Amino acid sequence: MTTAQILEKMIVFSEGNLHDIDHLIRVWTYAKTIGELEGLDSRTQYILETAAITHDIACPYCRTKYGNTEGRHQEEEGAWIVRDFLRGTGMDEAAAGRVIYLVSHHHTVTGVDGADYQILLEADYIANAEENHWPEENVRRFLSSVAGTESGKRLIREILLPGQEEADRTRAGQVCESGS
Ligand SMILES: [Fe+2]
Ligand SMILES: [Fe+2]
Repeated sequence: MTTAQILEKMIVFSEGNLHDIDHLIRVWTYAKTIGELEGLDSRTQYILETAAITHDIACPYCRTKYGNTEGRHQEEEGAWIVRDFLRGTGMDEAAAGRVIYLVSHHHTVTGVDGADYQILLEADYIANAEENHWPEENVRRFLSSVAGTESGKRLIREILLPGQEEADRTRAGQVCESGS
């Protein structure tokens, strides 16, 4: 399947839940953008975009089974749900395996073992920070401890800390001047 076909399949899977659909489209858009800016090869880009579209696939099931969408439940249940979802998409075993791995690790910020994983974390963070109005100190913490790609860091600043780069530079300049 093409990425557009996978997106449509995921929209059908979401059964009209506009919150879920808005979120997955947002994460997909940021993942696609960061992936392209970082110059990923086309196979990795396809894996990344498929994982971004399907990353929260376990949320409806977790709401019913656990009454919440805690990350660890999403990771546990996401693996088999996305495996089922990918059947019939024509994706080869290795690529499907990587998508399953990414979906079942997307709330884990340690052990990041590839650009696809790193970018998925960044894209999901931007979407969640926008949707939940996370405060500046949270954004700065993510920037210094989890964000990894240059394009991801740039987008995070441009979207979540707009106009602050100039202020940061000025502050840094004043520190330098006062220190000399
Ligand atoms: Fe999630
Ligand atoms: Fe998410």
